[in-house]
Amino acid sequence: MNSAEESSPRPENGDGEKFYTRDEIQSHNLSKDTWLIIHDKVYDVTAFLEEHPGGEEVLLEQAGGDATESFEDVGHSTDAREMLAQYYIGELHTKDRKKEAKKEVHVTNTRGSSSWTTWLVPAVAAAAVGVVYRLYMLDHKSS
Ligand code: HEM
Repeated sequence: MNSAEESSPRPENGDGEKFYTRDEIQSHNLSKDTWLIIHDKVYDVTAFLEEHPGGEEVLLEQAGGDATESFEDVGHSTDAREMLAQYYIGELHTKDRKKEAKKEVHVTNTRGSSSWTTWLVPAVAAAAVGVVYRLYMLDHKSS
């Protein structure tokens, strides 16, 4: 019998990370096989269920789906965020990502390039008004 080589249809990036589709992740929604998506990364938290300080129920409620919002709502500590790395198994397929991720980049760019112009324009305008007002008052005093 030939042991056929396992061929993976998943795309991989340069770092050899695996990409999973939402459908594929969705099937790992059991207490013996629990995957979660947090910030477009995929985590296999099966071994963590019993250790989770917040209880296994909350993790199972999100099993196979996107837990980003509930994870952030709790306000997890830095320690908790560092723990994520232990359960990381890959990335959410780019076609299944929400558009939100791109927004952040725009916000950063806008803030970086226009921070000084935002206050400079009104400051110059205010100075000009001040000068005109003083000239006007001087004119009135002397006449
Ligand atoms: C792999 C993902 C997760 C890890 C590594 C993790 C880790 C932790 C850790 C270390 C704590 C203790 C408090 C802290 O250090 O912040 C905690 C608490 C908690 N977590 Fe998670 N968590 C994960 C996912 C989630 C998700 C998806 C939810 C919600 C659906 C959740 C809900 C909670 C709750 C309710 C607490 C208790 C908070 C409290 O009692 O103050 N966690 N988690």
